Amino acid sequence: MPDREPAGWDGPAILVEDLHKSFGEVQALRGIDFSVERGRVLGLLGPNGAGKTTAVKVLTTLLAPDRGRALVEGRDVVRSAAAVRELIGLAGQSAAIQEELTGRENLEIMARLYHLGRTEARRRAGELLALFDLADAADRPAKGYSGGMQRRLDLAASLVARPAVLFLDEPTSGLDPRSRIGMWAVIRELVAAGTTLLLTTQYLEEADELADEIVVIDHGRVIAAGTGEQLKGRIGGDVVEFVVVDPGRLAAAVDAVASLGDGEPTVEAGDGRVAIRVGSRGSESLVLTVRQLDAAGIRTEGLGIRRPSLDDVFLALTGHGAEADSAPAERRSRRRPRAEAGVTRRDGTR
Ligand SMILES: Nc1ncnc2c1ncn2[C@@H]1O[C@H](COP(=O)(O)OP(=O)(O)OP(=O)(O)O)[C@@H](O)[C@H]1O
Ligand SMILES: [Mg+2]
Repeated sequence: MPDREPAGWDGPAILVEDLHKSFGEVQALRGIDFSVERGRVLGLLGPNGAGKTTAVKVLTTLLAPDRGRALVEGRDVVRSAAAVRELIGLAGQSAAIQEELTGRENLEIMARLYHLGRTEARRRAGELLALFDLADAADRPAKGYSGGMQRRLDLAASLVARPAVLFLDEPTSGLDPRSRIGMWAVIRELVAAGTTLLLTTQYLEEADELADEIVVIDHGRVIAAGTGEQLKGRIGGDVVEFVVVDPGRLAAAVDAVASLGDGEPTVEAGDGRVAIRVGSRGSESLVLTVRQLDAAGIRTEGLGIRRPSLDDVFLALTGHGAEADSAPAERRSRRRPRAEAGVTRRDGTR
């Protein structure tokens, strides 16, 4: 077993200072700083190409930075790479499992790589298969697993050696909303057991659910940091939204609800959509909106509360959406299917 708290180190579990990394012309990291206290969860939030995976690769010793430094439990990821590897677990963006082997075989091989004896390897594999709800599928080849099962197996593999610090690169990408929530539950259990966790995500909702602290990165720079509440506070909290059925009644609708929001309601004349920023007074404001519109005899569609999305955060912080106009077409087209997977939908009524 690696020693988890090296003598003399009482600093943060992860410390990143002025990290730079370029690939030829592309500056993937342009000087990022953050730290994670032991036992805490940091969400690294950003759109495609922001630099999330590059940061994870530097922290997990897979890439050397051009400048700056990164420490894991006080150990330098470049100078003490072997020591860092002893302490960490990584579930990368693409699963590292061997598809022709069964789930159990995958975990046992991983355990043997970490020098666990045969009996201990079997025991640990069984324990993790049960923890990740894979016991029934344990002896089937992993190539027959669903995407969610493969992700869970990959996460299980990253935990074989009981790492003190765990890195999860977009652990729920490609999962349907139900599997995503299942994965959140698993991650919460790990954290409750004391693991320090850095996870990357493109979803504000996910970072907000799981992380104590969120660092937002864009084009290789930190553009904001704080708790989910703080970030949402910067963009004014929840939004009550509805569409006025009769375009002739749009102005009357805005008048009816004008006093309910923070500032003037915004109107998208094109489709008669009205949005009211209501801070944290979500459900109360929803009820009041319904009453006011009823009293004024205005028919609406799609009335509901929308929580702030990553797009809203980006709009507020940078003046452009998460999909910057400068993003290459390839990046844009890759983001699309994930957004449709359900979590960043803008119709998030509760
Ligand atoms: N090996 C590489 N060679 C060249 N460019 C790279 C390499 N790895 C990353 N990049 C570039 O560096 C930038 C940051 O990439 P990175 O993979 O860190 O982003 P990301 O935030 O993880 O994005 P995604 O959400 O799509 O996973 C991108 O412009 C990417 O094209
Ligand atoms: Mg990535």
